[in-house]
Order: sequence, then C-alpha cells, then structure tokens
Amino acid sequence: MEENLKQILDRLKDETSYARNPFDIEKIRVTYLGKNGLITQLKKKISKLPAEEKPMAGKLINETSKKAEKTLTQKSETLKKELLKQKIAEETIDVTAHFENHDSGHLALINQTLEELETIFQNMGFDVVEGLEIDTVKHVFDDLNSPADHPARSTSDTFYITDDILLRPHTSSMQIRVMNEGKLPIKMVSAGRVFRNDEVDATHSPMFHQLECLVVDENVSMANLKATLETFIKEMFGDDMQLRYRPHHFPFTEPSLEVDATCPVCRGEGCPACGNTGWSMELLGGGMVHPNVLEACGIDSEKYTGFAFGLGVDRIAMVKYGLNDIRLLYDNDKRFLEQF
Ligand code: DAH
Repeated sequence: MEENLKQILDRLKDETSYARNPFDIEKIRVTYLGKNGLITQLKKKISKLPAEEKPMAGKLINETSKKAEKTLTQKSETLKKELLKQKIAEETIDVTAHFENHDSGHLALINQTLEELETIFQNMGFDVVEGLEIDTVKHVFDDLNSPADHPARSTSDTFYITDDILLRPHTSSMQIRVMNEGKLPIKMVSAGRVFRNDEVDATHSPMFHQLECLVVDENVSMANLKATLETFIKEMFGDDMQLRYRPHHFPFTEPSLEVDATCPVCRGEGCPACGNTGWSMELLGGGMVHPNVLEACGIDSEKYTGFAFGLGVDRIAMVKYGLNDIRLLYDNDKRFLEQF
C-alpha cells in the first residue's frame, strides 16, 4: 500500500508539472481525487483491510491526499499568476508611442456649403427649420398642388417606402409642414438631403441637397423674391454676380421661374465652363406660392401671399468651387477633401 501510494503521488506530481492551464489541473484532480479517482478508490478499500492495518492505511492515504491537493493547488496558483501576467503584457498600451500624420478632419464640402447658406439666410432674418427626409404623399405632392398624373409621382422617379410614405424628392414638403403649424408670418429656410431615382453621372446623383425657402405674409410680392435672391447670390459669390430669370412651370407656384447666375469662372465673359454663354447652370426654381397651396394649409389666400424657392445646394457648391463632377462631393477622396 505504501509503495503504491508513493507511485501514485509521483505520477500525479509528474503530470502536474506538465499542466499548462487551470483546466489541466482540474483534469488531474478528477483522475486522482475525484469520486472514482485513484486515491479515492484506495480510501474505499480501507474497510476491507484487517483491523490492525486500518489506522496506518488511513493515515497514509490521508497524507497522500493532502500532499496531492497541495501540489495541485500550488501549481494552479502559479499558472493563474502566469496567465494574468501574460494578459497584462498583451493588453499593454504604449502611451508614449508616437504617430506621424495624425490628421484631424473637418466638415465635408457639402456640409460647409449648407452651413454657409443657412448663415446667409439667418443673417437676413430667416428661421432655419430642421427637415424630414421621409415624408408622406400628402406633404410631398398632394398639398403642393401636384396633379395626380405628375411625372414626379411615379415610382420610376421617386423612391417609395409604402404607397403613402416616401423619401422626399424635394425639400418643398417642408413648406407644407411649416404652414400647417399655423403661425404667420413665415420666413424660413430648410435644407437637407433629397432623393430621386436618377442614374449617377457628372451632374446627377440619386441623393443630393436642396435648400427650401418660404415667405408668407401680407403684401409679399415678386419684388421681395428678387431682392432676397439678389442679396443672397451677392453674399455667396460676390457683388458682381447677376441673376437671370426664366419663366417656368411648377405646380406649387404661380407664376414660376428658374434662375441662373453669372458664370463664376469667367464672370460673364463667356468661357468653356459655361459653354460661352456667360451664365452658369440652373441654380434654383421658385415663384409666388400658388393660392391652392396656401388654402390646402388653411391660409387665407385673399389676405396672404408668399414666395418660395428651392435651391440646388450641390450646384451651388459646384459653381462656387469650380467642380465639374457632383461625384467629387460624395467620393470621400482625401486628395479632394483636403483642399477645402
Ligand atoms: N421643388 C422644386 C424641385 O425640386 C424646386 C422648387 C421650385 C421649389 C419652385 C420651390 C418652388 O419652393 O417654389 O425642382
């Protein structure tokens, strides 16, 4: 028995010395000291020994048991400490490490342009209203006097979420939301993203930006619209900028117009950028708010009049910074972004 116990203990010590983690230790503990472990089995045999051998055998087994336990516990502690040390070493952060090129970013050009536009209108006394990118057919088309067969309503032009809910194809829906609040007079701009089912090319993107302007009060006239636009364009591009008004049609304005600005490259002389016309591409659509639109929002169109326009913010950025491709605004090419 004594020899047997000694061998068992030596084997246990040997196996323990190879253990690499606490799980190995647990396995050894089960093999020797578990319910059916080698030492436990010997313990069970004591009852079958002759009475005079029992005390000695019991003492020996208990001592072996204690030594086995101690060996395992010590190794387990050592392993835990080693693992902790290793973990700490792996997770160390070198706070003294030096990094070159630690660039800090800035607003994208399109957001800079949006902020610049909003500031110009705020300085003219306009409220800036937060817009909703997802809106209803009622706000986007119906209350804006758009006929049932207007092409913009079709799914080939506009992204619908349900029959009644869509990604707004223009910011004009914000006119309806603001007028529905029932507070008069109104003098607001609201800018943000709009979405159209367009193929991507140098001048089109399925997502672009507009700034909507709406003024409703007594005695608002086309002269106020022109004065607002001319103040704005001079603030944005400089005093020598001229505007050109062309008649147009929008369901929500009557009369309606489109507006071009002097080509900022040649300042009107004519150059390749403007196809020698001296005028940049169309910047905005606008006009006098249609009486049907005012009435749809519960505003007395006999008493109140208004003007509105929708500005292509991407166009403004392209004209201002001489960009020949709208995709530059969205490609996230650092070589482009770093210039602004
Ligand atoms: N919503 C028009 C568009 O996306 C632009 C526009 C035209 C806005 C006339 C207006 C407006 O507010 O009065 O093409």
